[in-house]
Order: sequence, then structure tokens, then C-alpha cells
Amino acid sequence: MNTVVLLGPPGAGKGTVAEVLVDKGYRHISTGDLLREQIRLETPLGLEAKKLMDKGRFVPDDAVVSMIRDVLKSSESSAKFLFDGFPRTLNQAEKFDELIQSLEGTLDEVILLECPDDVIVERLSGRRTCEKCGAVYHEIFNPPSKGDRCDVEGCELMQRPDDNETTIRKRLAVYAERTAPLITYYEAKDLVHPIDATQSIGQVREAVLEKLG
Ligand code: AP5
Repeated sequence: MNTVVLLGPPGAGKGTVAEVLVDKGYRHISTGDLLREQIRLETPLGLEAKKLMDKGRFVPDDAVVSMIRDVLKSSESSAKFLFDGFPRTLNQAEKFDELIQSLEGTLDEVILLECPDDVIVERLSGRRTCEKCGAVYHEIFNPPSKGDRCDVEGCELMQRPDDNETTIRKRLAVYAERTAPLITYYEAKDLVHPIDATQSIGQVREAVLEKLG
């Protein structure tokens, strides 16, 4: 089992980059998407997660690690995984190391998307997503071809409840305090490959493919 972690602040473009890596055989695991599915199904975890996510706070480590454990344990040993939004705390990173080791897998790369806060606020404020297929658009930088409708499903696009400026700023503060220390953690293991995520979507995707494609 081979794994790659996409690291970077909310809105740096992790999901957007993941789309092209799926075409290269990676299985995209976004803990944000897994949690939003629990919210949609109104499970006990989903009800608890919604309260935290709407405020820009993290869901408890144990709940997130347990979701990841279930995904990995039910997968073939030859699978290639791309993690987006996980791990997000030092505790999650340590648990992730233990889990990969127990499954005889490897963490091969940590792709770090670097992007300043003001660019992120602009990106997340204009983000639109398709609730059916998960496609991600931006009203200026990556607009759908027809009005405010998904190119794949044809349904109306939505704005995530946590994509308002107050919650975006809170998410950035939580990232700086709890997730940014992972950069040093993975640098010590010589795994970090930084990419300038202020470039165009095409350029960022190309830089990531150069490393992993
Ligand atoms: P999650 O869903 O993971 O959100 P996030 O990390 O905040 O990241 P985003 O999905 O918002 O951004 P992204 O980097 O994928 O950017 P995107 O490609 O969409 O998590 C949500 C919440 O769930 C968390 O706040 C937390 O509460 C909880 N959670 C999740 N995982 C957890 C964990 N492990 N532990 C605890 N809690 C957890 O791009 C953004 C926009 O910019 C789009 O509109 C896109 O079109 C545009 N764009 C992208 N790239 C470019 C570019 N190069 N140029 C111009 N525009 C671009």
C-alpha cells in the first residue's frame, strides 16, 4: 500500500489537484468529504461533526482516525492512496504512521501546497461545489460552463456553510496552530515537496504531476 499526503491550508487547492491524480490511479480520500457524507446521512458522528465544522473547528482525532482505519483495512494491499485534509494534527500524524506500519504500507510523499491567507479567502468565498458528484468550481477562476450548474450532473451548485469569511479566517487560524507543525514533522522525515499554489490551476496540477504522475 502506497500513500501520499496533500498538505496545505484550507482552500489552497488540495481537492482541485486531487482530481488529476485520480486519473493516475490514486484513490482520493478527503476526510472533509467523508465527514460531509456522515452529516448528509445524519449519523451520530455527522450530527456532532456538523456543529464543529460549521464553526471551523476540528472533529476529534479519534473519530477521524477511526474512519481512516476502516477505509485502509478494507482496501487491497496494492492500492495507492491520496490523503486530502488528513492528517491534520500531530496526534493524527503519529496514529497514521502506526496504521500504515501495521498494514505494511509506506508514506511516499507529502505535497505541500503553499498559499497566503488573502488568496485563500478569495478562493473559498468564490468556491461552488456539486453536492451530487463533489465537483469543485470557482465563480471566477474555474467557472462551470452553464450558469451556476454542475457540468457533470446539471444540478444547481452549492456554497459550503463554512465558506464565509468569518469561518474561513477561523479555519486559517486553526490550521496555523494545529496543522502547520506537521510541516516540520514531515521535513524531519525528508518527505516534504513544496509547491507554489498561487500559480494557475493548470500550473499547480502540472507541478504535482511532475512529482507523482
Ligand atoms: P475540508 O473539506 O478538508 O476543508 P479544508 O481543508 O478546509 O479544505 P478545502 O476543501 O476547503 O480546500 P481545498 O484545499 O481542497 O481547496 P479546493 O481545491 O476546494 O475540511 C472541512 C472541515 O472538516 C474542517 O474545517 C474540519 O472541521 C473537518 N475536518 C476535515 N478533516 C479533518 C481532520 N483530519 N481532522 C479533524 N477535522 C477534520 O479549492 C478552493 C477553491 O479555489 C475552489 O473554488 C477552486 O476552484 C479554487 N482553486 C483551486 N486551486 C486554484 C488555483 N491554483 N488558482 C485559482 N483558483 C483555485
